[in-house]
Amino acid sequence: MRSSELFLALTSLFALAHSSEEFGRPKRNLEPLEPWKVTKMSTFSPSGRPGSSPLAHTWANITSSGSIAAGHGASFESSDANCTAEWVWASEVPYNHTYECTTTTAVAPSQSSSSTWTIEILEVTNSNYFSPTENFDVKFTLTSNVTVDGNEYYKVLVGTQHFEVGKNMRGTCGGSGLCSWALRDENNPVLVQPTIVACEGTC
Ligand SMILES: *[C@@H]1O[C@H](CO)[C@@H](O)[C@H](O)[C@H]1NC(C)=O
Ligand SMILES: *[C@@H]1O[C@H](CO)[C@@H](O)[C@H](O)[C@H]1NC(C)=O
Ligand SMILES: *[C@@H]1O[C@H](CO)[C@@H](O)[C@H](O)[C@H]1NC(C)=O
Ligand SMILES: *[C@@H]1O[C@H](CO)[C@@H](O)[C@H](O)[C@H]1NC(C)=O
Repeated sequence: MRSSELFLALTSLFALAHSSEEFGRPKRNLEPLEPWKVTKMSTFSPSGRPGSSPLAHTWANITSSGSIAAGHGASFESSDANCTAEWVWASEVPYNHTYECTTTTAVAPSQSSSSTWTIEILEVTNSNYFSPTENFDVKFTLTSNVTVDGNEYYKVLVGTQHFEVGKNMRGTCGGSGLCSWALRDENNPVLVQPTIVACEGTC
């Protein structure tokens, strides 16, 4: 092995060890996670005509179903979120910005528990055609916390899905240049498989 190869091998070994330490999970004793359901994914890009709103939008709804063991007999209940991303079409991109969603939980939130959803719009990298409203990925993050007998348990779940006009979205563009897209009925709901990225409690 030449020294450069050895160096590369050692570097990747180190990266592997480092990442498995950083993202390492305690052993799993959870049921497999149920997929989330995206029931709404609508986008709008403005015409850019003087006097009209310069804002582009993404509206998303997502639901988690079933309760998940949190720890010490407590569980995280299902929740729904209504998310909005908004940016100036002509001069901004929405990528890599975390947008907070409005979350509704099946069980009324108390002081000791909370669930919050966020979305991030990700740039599609394996395509020549980039559009934050027509061809994009969305990363959904659900953070749930509960405090039981002074112990805090939490889970951070992440799932990413691809959305694309002509695949799971359809819509129209007006003569003025504005465009509106939404999930195709036959693709609704779109499923998103969550994975656990951080956990304390039953993991
Ligand atoms: C999206 O969420 C909002 C707010 O919870 C709700 O009023 C609306 O009916 C939902 N739409 C769909 C298609 O799920
Ligand atoms: C969804 O949440 C936004 C705030 O993020 C709110 O302005 C909007 O009215 C909500 N939509 C519905 C249908 O509840
Ligand atoms: C978003 O983040 C990814 C990964 O960190 C990076 O490759 C990409 O350039 C970023 N895009 C923008 C528009 O900041
Ligand atoms: C939930 O737990 C996460 C991870 O420890 C923490 O970053 C976050 O602040 C907690 N949120 C609440 C509302 O306690």
